[in-house]
Amino acid sequence: MRAPASLLVAGVLLAACATQPAPESAPEPASSSLARRVGTMSELMVDILYPAGDAVFYIETRTPTNSEEWALVQMQTLMIAEVANLLMMPGRARDQDQWMRDAELMLDAGEAAYRAAKDRDVAAMVALNDQLYVSCLTCHEHYRPGYGR
Ligand code: HEC
Repeated sequence: MRAPASLLVAGVLLAACATQPAPESAPEPASSSLARRVGTMSELMVDILYPAGDAVFYIETRTPTNSEEWALVQMQTLMIAEVANLLMMPGRARDQDQWMRDAELMLDAGEAAYRAAKDRDVAAMVALNDQLYVSCLTCHEHYRPGYGR
């Protein structure tokens, strides 16, 4: 029978994963969780957060003019908020204190930006520029190697 054999393989793989060094205070992922990291920290930053952040930072000069463009901005702002959650994942979170608070700053800013994007409220998005920028900056000052030094 194939199933028990593949279960065994899965078990061995899980056991192998469990021995990977995890960040100090981050709890191990629950064994029932199917979540796993796909992108590196750098890839999340460059491929998702950088372009998504621009949707907020340049909302005045790149203001959406139709439903498709607004849908894109909604997606980008939603991604900012949800990537904050990804950054808090076990195995990604660098610690359970400062890192979580820094990620939460971006969660707050991203969530507010998403609400504003759904309302197509350009002024509200402009008003969130600083809050979002500070959320990126704060974590980078704490955790991005060589940043601001
Ligand atoms: C909770 C922490 C955290 C938050 C919030 C955060 N970053 Fe980062 N960022 C990092 C870390 C850590 C690195 C260094 C990643 C690496 O090189 O492995 C980084 C690096 C980067 C880089 C350089 C990546 C490279 O490989 O060159 C960019 C660009 C970036 N972040 C954009 C953003 C933007 C834009 C935001 C806000 C919308 C943001 N980040 C918010 C932690 C964060």
